[in-house]
Amino acid sequence: MKVLVIGSGGREHAMAWKLSQSIKVSAIFIAPGNGGTYLNPKFKNIDLTDINLLSDFAIKEKIDLTVVGPELPLSKGIVDLFRFKNLNIFGPTQKAAQLESSKDFAKDFMYRHNIPTAKYRTFKMPDEAHQYIAEHGAPIVIKADGLASGKGVIVAMTVEEAHEAIDFMLVDNKFGDAGAKVVIEEFLEGEEASFMVVCDGKTILPLATSQDHKRLLDHDMGPNTGGMGAYSPAPIVTNEIYSKVMEEIISPTIYGMAKDGIPFTGFLYAGLMITKKGDVKTLEFNCRMGDPETQPILMRLKSDLFEMLYKAALGHLDSLEIEWDTRTALAVVLASAGYPESPRLNDEIHIEDRIIPDSYIFHAGTVYKDNKLLTSGGRVLAVTALGNSVKEAQFKAYEAINTVKFNGVQYRKDIGYRALNNN
Ligand code: AMP
Ligand code: GLY
Repeated sequence: MKVLVIGSGGREHAMAWKLSQSIKVSAIFIAPGNGGTYLNPKFKNIDLTDINLLSDFAIKEKIDLTVVGPELPLSKGIVDLFRFKNLNIFGPTQKAAQLESSKDFAKDFMYRHNIPTAKYRTFKMPDEAHQYIAEHGAPIVIKADGLASGKGVIVAMTVEEAHEAIDFMLVDNKFGDAGAKVVIEEFLEGEEASFMVVCDGKTILPLATSQDHKRLLDHDMGPNTGGMGAYSPAPIVTNEIYSKVMEEIISPTIYGMAKDGIPFTGFLYAGLMITKKGDVKTLEFNCRMGDPETQPILMRLKSDLFEMLYKAALGHLDSLEIEWDTRTALAVVLASAGYPESPRLNDEIHIEDRIIPDSYIFHAGTVYKDNKLLTSGGRVLAVTALGNSVKEAQFKAYEAINTVKFNGVQYRKDIGYRALNNN
């Protein structure tokens, strides 16, 4: 079977890596891929991002399954287009992807289906938004309605910051259409976790639990990023929390979408806030797997990822059971100088041949040019390792990092500390 993976990040490298372990898979194309996938003879990078050209490619190459990594092509309707052309693809339709591409859609959906989430109001007019902030005070959270490359959420600790965020989005239109509407919501306190499932429209297959570290610096300080590290499982998701998430969030979402006439196929990612009391609220939905959560999750997956996604795309997930490695996997992201504000590009990356057992280096912002591996984005590599405990996985991941060098590298030294505290 021939597979096409859409995307270029660490998540897509991990998907391709896992798909390549299936005996059913004969070829893997990645569009556009990165330096790491280019250098691996098992994969072929395809320099395409336009969804029409991708569908032409899938027809020409007789691709049996296309798997979509990031949200952007989903929000542009790649799944609708591929299905229209009778191509087999795994992911949500453009309408279903609104759970991620419109915060207003997601909040309205959660309210209608009684899915726990922060109280909110949606605004288009700056005056009304400013007045709401004046009435509610800080801390308060301002979110651009649309996709804003992970920069659309401002957790305002002061009223001034909140007013500034409103002006930024509604007056200065800094996010364009994505910020033409804003959701203002109640600030929630607790610990975050990521909960992902695979769904074929009817059957829900939960993936292993995980947690990521969004802040740039140790002890969860500094600016928010796409994620500086992650691990699986997340000890904070106890059996009790797990059942609550399935009953109160995941099941009502999947059944609610089906009831609303928008059946959800694809990966559904619920960003959770778990309070001290053990209540769980939904911070956000993503219609894709998380990055870097995918890297540790897929290192723990023992079952055949191709079979899982192929069956899900055909609506036959009910006949599948999956198996997980009981060990912990932990990923540390190596970011370029200047990340997240203005990542520096074109620093040469050196990776020693020495292999640390049970570890793998997934590439993200890398490119191979003139016989050199160079940085080409903010998050450059995710160094991931398996261990019998969080401590062991952490130790091996940091040992594997010693095999990598590039100028300006930034990474956190404490990935996994919450899991160690919760153990
Ligand atoms: P989101 O993209 O909606 O998940 O927001 C990005 C990050 O902002 C989350 O991972 C949280 O750290 C933070 N955040 C979002 N919504 C809230 C909220 N209502 N209360 C506190 N923090 C939030
Ligand atoms: N790591 C968070 C995300 O993928 O959205």
